[in-house]
Amino acid sequence: MTIQPVHSFTLLDGTTIPWIAWGNGSGNAQKTAVISGKLALESGLRHIDTAQIYRNEKETGEAIKQSSVPREDVYVTSKLSTRPDGAPVPFDEITASIQDSLDKLGFVPNLYLIHNPFVVEGGKLKAAWKVLEDLKDQGKLQSIGVSNFRPQDLEEILDGAKYKPVVNQIEYHPYVLTHLEPLLALQKKHGILTESYGPSRPSSDTPPAAARSNPISQVVGKKLDPTVVLLLWTRAQGVVVVTASGNPAHIKELGVIATLPEGLVTEEEVREIERVGRGVHFRYYTEHMEKDFPLPDLPSQ
Ligand SMILES: NC(=O)c1ccc[n+]([C@@H]2O[C@H](COP(=O)([O-])OP(=O)(O)OC[C@H]3O[C@@H](n4cnc5c(N)ncnc54)[C@H](OP(=O)(O)O)[C@@H]3O)[C@@H](O)[C@H]2O)c1
Repeated sequence: MTIQPVHSFTLLDGTTIPWIAWGNGSGNAQKTAVISGKLALESGLRHIDTAQIYRNEKETGEAIKQSSVPREDVYVTSKLSTRPDGAPVPFDEITASIQDSLDKLGFVPNLYLIHNPFVVEGGKLKAAWKVLEDLKDQGKLQSIGVSNFRPQDLEEILDGAKYKPVVNQIEYHPYVLTHLEPLLALQKKHGILTESYGPSRPSSDTPPAAARSNPISQVVGKKLDPTVVLLLWTRAQGVVVVTASGNPAHIKELGVIATLPEGLVTEEEVREIERVGRGVHFRYYTEHMEKDFPLPDLPSQ
């Protein structure tokens, strides 16, 4: 089988990132990180998303080692997470904790994120970002970014930053667009790329009744599977997709999806999905983004 190259987006720091990642933080993908990660790479995916809290950074490195794909052809993201019990990382342990990620992976990942603004003990977010900047300057990290940052979190670290975060990895699909409006505007202003986790939750999980009465899948479902539509819609927004699967048939399909040409979902369909999505609020991962970030007044149940 000939593997086609995967389209990439360019980040603020001039590096490139493949538009679609196979993540090992959810479902069966997390439990089968070596075998599923190896299959993902050999199916054509070139981007793996992991994190300390998924407890499989070592397996991520192992999946690459066991695959036929050289490390330099794989884009790897990892994240500084809270402790397994949910406690924040004490400020003076951040550097050692990041080094532990690198040791487990067996290499420096292409992208390293602060997993959410609550990872770092209270009031130390800006100082923690400075630690990542310093590690980047020392060549111990490459691209640096954030995840689950609300507008106030981004503003806090942007103030006086040497490097802006290259990405913010957030739950992103049509049903969170209205809620995310101020955040996306801020990211656009600073050139911070959005990475979408949970991109297919509106099709893989039961959407709320308000969404069911006007489902995304009916907009363009006539010609493509709803999951594929959501992934291609996300790419058409210029947003990196972070999806997951522990199902071998689905992983192989993701390898095919990774190299699908643009235009399968037309510009008109992209706009229609956006219009439908903006009328409903549905969030799958509620814990990360709803604290001190007001929800829109929209039907959600
Ligand atoms: N930064 C954060 O805080 C954060 C939070 C959550 C997730 N993430 C990252 O994002 C990744 C993805 O999150 P997610 O699982 O919510 O993503 P998702 O893309 O919304 O959902 C994945 C679901 O899609 C299904 N699926 C995958 N490929 C498919 C295909 N070809 N056809 C039909 N269904 C398919 C999977 O089911 P099967 O397994 O049955 O295929 C799974 O249930 C995580 O693993 C993690 O790396 C990050």
